[in-house]
Amino acid sequence: MINNKTSLNMVIGYPLEHSQSPILHNTIYQALKLNTVLLAFPCWEIQTLIQAIKTLTVSLTAVTMPFKEEVMNYLDSWNVDVEALQAVNTIIQRQGKLIGYNTDVDGIAYALRTTTVAHKNVLIIGAGGAARALAYFLQKNNAHIFWLNRTPEKAEKLSNLFGGELINRKQINDLQVDIIINTTPVGMYPQKNANPLENYLFNYKQTVFDMVYNPTTTELLQQAQKNGAKIISGLDMFIGQGIRQIELWLDTAIDKTNLVKHVREKLQRELIS
Ligand code: ATR
Repeated sequence: MINNKTSLNMVIGYPLEHSQSPILHNTIYQALKLNTVLLAFPCWEIQTLIQAIKTLTVSLTAVTMPFKEEVMNYLDSWNVDVEALQAVNTIIQRQGKLIGYNTDVDGIAYALRTTTVAHKNVLIIGAGGAARALAYFLQKNNAHIFWLNRTPEKAEKLSNLFGGELINRKQINDLQVDIIINTTPVGMYPQKNANPLENYLFNYKQTVFDMVYNPTTTELLQQAQKNGAKIISGLDMFIGQGIRQIELWLDTAIDKTNLVKHVREKLQRELIS
């Protein structure tokens, strides 16, 4: 129930028609009985958005494309993850100061919470911002990275920062890969039948994590599952990063036990897949 005490959080970016952050946040706010709504503010002008955050004293702002990097110019400070990634997905306003965080790393940690990555061979498909956050997490957790990307130069840049070896599609078949992670949009609605690793033979010892969450079980995950691999949906990362945003805002840990199940069911009903 919206009333005169309801506070406003935002998601900023452009465009935002496909942003699922409002459903994610508002479902969690309702479950936690928080008198707050999160609304989408699609706008090209970052300065206008920053001014709105200050004027309306917005406590939590989720930041998405194309502002994840540019927004750093307007912050008072940021944490160590932002420093390493040079990208922000969350702004928390405290006593008029804007502080930047990157909870994508927390989302990745949440999605991989039951998977040991230390000393495992991990294949990263893609070399954009999501791959960068993943490589940062994997490097911190002593995984061995293999990079596969359409544009090898981009993967090379990331391998110089976070380690790992570049490989091509042919070489993968001869490698013993323990964990495969797709960070590209290949397989995302409406291209549901696309597969970033076509004709690859998965095995039951592998874990396959797809950062795409719409559909919740992508073509890649379906193929992996058919061959007995353990699969992880991008929904886990999406929910994990969102809960962490709220923990930063409330400055308290949130009990995820029943919450995640409830949010996952709600998102699965709402997503077009
Ligand atoms: P994000 O920041 O969300 O990770 P991004 O920076 O656009 O998104 O990165 C997407 C990654 O997916 C890129 O590595 C991109 O490959 P290029 O480096 O060659 O641009 C990869 N990607 C996007 N669409 C792709 C496609 N159709 N086939 C293969 N790779 C694709």
